[in-house]
Amino acid sequence: MEPQQRISAQQYLERSAARMEEAGLFFGHGTDNAWDEACWLLETLLKRDGVQDIHPDLPLSPALVAQADAMLAQRLSTRTPLAYLLREAWFCGVPFYVDERVLVPRSPIAELIQAGFAPLLQQAPRRVLDLCAGGGCIGIACALAFEEAEVVLSDISPEALEVARMNVARFALQNRVQVLQSDLCAAVPGRFDLIVSNPPYVAQDEYDTLPGEFKREPVLGLVSAREGLAIPLRILDQAVDKLDPGGMLVLETGATWELLAATRPDLPFLWLEFENGGEGVCALTREQLLATLPP
Ligand SMILES: C[S@@+](CC[C@H](N)C(=O)[O-])C[C@H]1O[C@@H](n2cnc3c(N)ncnc32)[C@H](O)[C@@H]1O
Repeated sequence: MEPQQRISAQQYLERSAARMEEAGLFFGHGTDNAWDEACWLLETLLKRDGVQDIHPDLPLSPALVAQADAMLAQRLSTRTPLAYLLREAWFCGVPFYVDERVLVPRSPIAELIQAGFAPLLQQAPRRVLDLCAGGGCIGIACALAFEEAEVVLSDISPEALEVARMNVARFALQNRVQVLQSDLCAAVPGRFDLIVSNPPYVAQDEYDTLPGEFKREPVLGLVSAREGLAIPLRILDQAVDKLDPGGMLVLETGATWELLAATRPDLPFLWLEFENGGEGVCALTREQLLATLPP
């Protein structure tokens, strides 16, 4: 086929975005609309092919179109999030390896990390715990943001931790990022200035109604008993013993936040606001957690 007969990048994007919309895909695992998802797919494959100068008129090779179409067909027929098909997800502006062993990174905590947790933290943390780390995106992004910090990534899932180790190696952070298996804080040694956690907090009833894309993710990463509250409540109980004086817990509970606040009215949750969307992330100091413990 002559180059002038080839489909252009713009034509390909229009065609594939239309197919995604017709199929009624759910977006929310890296993008929030069909056009952005089509751009993500095409750009990633072009860059992997060594094409840097991507513009609307760029003629696409038949081999690349075939590769992109095969991935699109899988996205449409299986509802697999694109990140799993590409084996890559972006978080805090950097690409992480992902596959079905971990959730696709999308926590609004990214915005806090990019702001250096200002104004919550007065100084850079020296020790950070990413509790329920999955593939490690939050803890690794913290390690990149705080270049002197030692970081622990902990998770109960050995499969997720394999992915976390791959990401630690990907960013060459083995000298200050440790990966360990633990049921919440049970096997985590030492104390931290900052604990960041995006744990499972989805109620089973709600999970049952979620679009197919979520069903491709590990259920252990999403569902929590007691209407989503079980794991967040355990974290609130355990964090105080894992924080240094002056330390801070940043905990995501998504839409479960109202129920959590109502269940623990004794705690002065600071619910954070986000410019890029997201809700249900709170901050609590060790002293605030300590004040609610029985004497
Ligand atoms: C919502 S995912 C978050 C992954 C990652 N932090 C992120 O933001 O993309 C929750 C993670 O919690 C882990 N998890 C579930 N129960 C746990 C427990 N009891 N102790 C430690 N980790 C747990 C799951 O394996 C999963 O990787």
